[in-house]
Amino acid sequence: MIEDLLPGVIMSSEAYDDSQPCALFPAEEVVISGAVEKRRREFTTARWCARNALGRLGYPQVPVVPGAKGAPVWPADVVGSITHCAGYRAAAVARSCDIATLGIDAEPNKPLPPGILEAIAVEEELRWVTDFLRRDPSARWDRLLFSAKESVYKAWFPLAPLREPRLDFSEASITFDPVGGGFLARLLAEGPRLRDGSELREFSGRWLVRRGLVITAIAVVATPPAGIPGAADDVADASEDRGPPLLRLTQH
Ligand SMILES: CC(C)(COP(=O)(O)OP(=O)(O)OC[C@H]1O[C@@H](n2cnc3c(N)ncnc32)[C@H](O)[C@@H]1OP(=O)(O)O)[C@@H](O)C(=O)NCCC(=O)NCCS
Repeated sequence: MIEDLLPGVIMSSEAYDDSQPCALFPAEEVVISGAVEKRRREFTTARWCARNALGRLGYPQVPVVPGAKGAPVWPADVVGSITHCAGYRAAAVARSCDIATLGIDAEPNKPLPPGILEAIAVEEELRWVTDFLRRDPSARWDRLLFSAKESVYKAWFPLAPLREPRLDFSEASITFDPVGGGFLARLLAEGPRLRDGSELREFSGRWLVRRGLVITAIAVVATPPAGIPGAADDVADASEDRGPPLLRLTQH
């Protein structure tokens, strides 16, 4: 399911339970040794997904440990993201020459607990979500908003790992395309710098609601050296096929 949200240069893997046999590396064991069983299971299956996704990218089995502030540490020229929630685990990875950063997030398609929407939404989001929950109750738009913001954070963090405080929910404003499955996250704070020095002002992503889950994904296409075709061209081609705006990169 997650692959439906991602362009072809991103490899992914997902699981709906924890039945996959996966041995942890010693470095991963150290991290998870004191955790409760539920956390151990999600961590382990997420590693199974991460190794599968890395394998599809041509990488051998390696440990994937949480690094600074919990962000997963990938091989040197790889970017990636992990998510897990009840009944779902997934990982997605790409070569950093194709994708500058990516973030994925899955949540149950259920209402957010009381008070959370008000805590995470900026004014225009609150108005839109409240309206759309009435108009189209098939999707939990409050949960989708939360998930989109988590994807924003996961994509933003590797580009600004030293920023304190971390990106707050009030520092991104999400606009959903409710029909086409796209969304745009405008940063309301200064954006992180890409490798070429340009400022990233917005993240473009995709969403879906399926199997009782809401899933969001963001990928920022890496800028290829001048004159050399890169993933941006593949992504642009793919988006023409699929319709909704797909993983567009806007720099200022
Ligand atoms: C870190 C965070 C985004 C994780 O999201 P979540 O919905 O709670 O949990 P998920 O299961 O979807 O994702 C967990 C995975 O996120 C990844 N993750 C954790 N910290 C991360 C970070 N700083 N950057 C990128 N990825 C991170 C990890 O891989 C983790 O899995 P693992 O511990 O098994 O390796 C969330 O807990 C958080 O701190 N959010 C607050 C910040 C925020 O979202 N701000 C909004 C900005 S608009």
